[in-house]
Amino acid sequence: MDRNEAVLRELNLYPQWVRRNQIAPVVAEPHAPEELLAVRPELVEGHGAPITVDSRQASTSSARAEINNIHTDPSVATPASQVDKLDWPELKQQVRDCTACKLRAGCTQTVFGAGDEQAEWLFVGEGPGADEDARGEPFVGQAGKLLDNMLLAIKLRRGKNVYIANIVKCRPPNNRNPEADEIATCLSYLQRQIELIKPKLIIALGKTAATALLGRDATLGSLRGTLHDYRGIPLLVTYHPAYLLRSPMEKAKAWQDLCLAVNTMAG
Ligand code: URA
Repeated sequence: MDRNEAVLRELNLYPQWVRRNQIAPVVAEPHAPEELLAVRPELVEGHGAPITVDSRQASTSSARAEINNIHTDPSVATPASQVDKLDWPELKQQVRDCTACKLRAGCTQTVFGAGDEQAEWLFVGEGPGADEDARGEPFVGQAGKLLDNMLLAIKLRRGKNVYIANIVKCRPPNNRNPEADEIATCLSYLQRQIELIKPKLIIALGKTAATALLGRDATLGSLRGTLHDYRGIPLLVTYHPAYLLRSPMEKAKAWQDLCLAVNTMAG
């Protein structure tokens, strides 16, 4: 099996059907990066999605919370007002000490986020799973391995111009989705991280990250392929790596999203 075939097989795009009288193959030859092929051919170049700018998002976190139906209970000590001036060490300490929602009681440790604190690329997932809870680092399990390969596919590496964070910093029990009040309570930490990092592009991994950051509920399919705005920072939405592990047929679409991200960064 040659390299191209291996890549196409990985993407469930093999075999390529070629019209009898046609010289060129119907499917464009993939240009999968060497780094990716050397590790594992998870993704291959697809056709770029059209870029449209969506400026409809709410610009304040309260508006976002309102739109997203995230209502904070005033009796819960929301850290929002306490974090917006914090520097990195203070913010890390505050997250470590946080008991503002019920998630902290059920997790081993908080998972703050990791990577280059001046990164141009910010990837945002949902929340820690069992592996992340044990290690205190985001995306270190199977989904993390796929995320690493997605990064390699666009010549990025964890920690080098890349920061990885989650919407909630504590593992939800039994890997359930974080609830609206947990997201609302935790979101100000991520907002402060974004203010400090000042990334050039945010990539929301999955619907939870997308809806929390954009402040509106929509299907992931409808959010993909569009350049959104998070407080003046371009934001793209793609599939969560854990979903791609369950639905490998969607990897080709994820690759389209990554191509759009690279094109967006290239200006
Ligand atoms: N899934 C996430 O959303 N985040 C992690 O850190 C790990 C798995």
